Amino acid sequence: MDHSTSAQPDSAHPDHPQDPGRRDFIYIAAATVGAVGVGLVAWPFIDQMNPDEAQLALATIEVDISAVEPGMSLTVQWRGKPVFIRHRTEEEIAAARAVPLTDLKDQTARNANLPADALATDENRAAEGHEAILIMVGVCTHLGCVPLGDAGDFGGWFCPCHGSHYDTAGRIRLGPAPFNLDVPVVNFLDDATVRIG
Ligand code: FES
Repeated sequence: MDHSTSAQPDSAHPDHPQDPGRRDFIYIAAATVGAVGVGLVAWPFIDQMNPDEAQLALATIEVDISAVEPGMSLTVQWRGKPVFIRHRTEEEIAAARAVPLTDLKDQTARNANLPADALATDENRAAEGHEAILIMVGVCTHLGCVPLGDAGDFGGWFCPCHGSHYDTAGRIRLGPAPFNLDVPVVNFLDDATVRIG
């Protein structure tokens, strides 16, 4: 089974459809992907699956984010879904923190690492001590399309299917989507490695 990483520019950006310099990458399969808790015995089983099944079987992945500098994003596959990992700039964090909770359509953090009733402050959308790194399931909460990064009226994500705009904390601000993008369970093993799931 090939566990090598492949990264490629995401050319789906509506504003820069041919921009090869866009610093937004898709990791089809992270090099450090691992099946935690089931150990090596899982690999022969996973090797017999097709790639989609194998990815679904990886309940937990570890991702090396050391190359993701401020302003960069990458997308990894986890449990068959895209997960966005964005290293936010200071400006993006400041913009998110300047938004009063009363301006938010969904005032719930939607963060699996926090109580269900935690509020959608910017601080509650990221992991403590790693506030610049925003990690979210990349599935629009309207009808499940994959939003585009670095896009929309609030500088975060834009879902072109029906026009939902998310801000730089992944919170729904405009459009038909009812909820903020989900934050999965994350654990930083060190500054360069994050475990998802
Ligand atoms: S699926 Fe995203 S706006 Fe409808």
